[in-house]
Amino acid sequence: MTVGEALAHGTHVLAEAGIDTARLEAELLLAKACDDCARALLYMELRRDLSPEAEEGYEALLVRRARREPLAYILGHWGFRRLTLKTDKRALIPRPETEIVVERALEHLNGMGEPAVLDVGTGTGAIALAIVDEHPRARVTAIDASEEALALARENLNLLGINGRVRLVEHDLTEGLGRDEFDLVVSNPPYVEPEDIETLQPEVRDWEPRIALVAHGATEAVARAATEALRPGGWVVLEIAENQAANVAGVLRNLGYEHLRISPDMAGRDRVIEAQWSR
Ligand SMILES: C[S@@+](CC[C@H](N)C(=O)[O-])C[C@H]1O[C@@H](n2cnc3c(N)ncnc32)[C@H](O)[C@@H]1O
Repeated sequence: MTVGEALAHGTHVLAEAGIDTARLEAELLLAKACDDCARALLYMELRRDLSPEAEEGYEALLVRRARREPLAYILGHWGFRRLTLKTDKRALIPRPETEIVVERALEHLNGMGEPAVLDVGTGTGAIALAIVDEHPRARVTAIDASEEALALARENLNLLGINGRVRLVEHDLTEGLGRDEFDLVVSNPPYVEPEDIETLQPEVRDWEPRIALVAHGATEAVARAATEALRPGGWVVLEIAENQAANVAGVLRNLGYEHLRISPDMAGRDRVIEAQWSR
């Protein structure tokens, strides 16, 4: 099979499996099968025959993707802000809207000497690692109840060579966040209601960890616990579910937060809320 034939075949297989971006994903999977060559190189070699190993490897990747395993798990890495993070089934795949969470967090940290940040439910470590990457002196404590997710976050920490400024801690939010003096508490908590799980795309519903998805009141729990973990004047920045902005704003106001601000994602949906703990 030539490179060109492989791309046409892969595009067909993935489109049949209901994947919208079939051509692009066929290219990425073929590039991975060809010893991680650059996607653009494939187009210089459309008539070249694939080696038997590359062909076999490519077929195996197509089978995985046709079963709707997420592309990020198959590729094993995913971009998040300036970082490339290792991704696998141990943790949620970082999303573009979470990049806005980081942007809002950095806005509050700018100008602070050595801000102390708490990332609740760190998963791959995406938010914590992006903050220390983009704020040269920030220190982040990143917690997660999932031992598996924390192991992946540690691998990302080591791969990125960010030493000393991120502390990973296995901790369940339902036990509170303790009394502290953090300048900022940031979180992308699980926020899918249990009854909505079946409506999700198969990539999410069948592959991403349930602990990373199902809400169980996590948003309110973070907001409540942050009232003790923040110093007076500190900020909380939360990613929220679509259509939850009014609810979460109400929760934050009832808890005594002030100066609420809601930010949209790239599709214009309200997905990030921030507020100041002034007491
Ligand atoms: C939506 S994921 C976010 C992961 C990562 N911060 C990101 O934005 O890509 C939520 C994370 O919260 C963690 N989590 C869920 N329940 C928790 C709890 N009770 N205490 C601490 N972490 C929890 C999950 O393991 C998961 O890693």
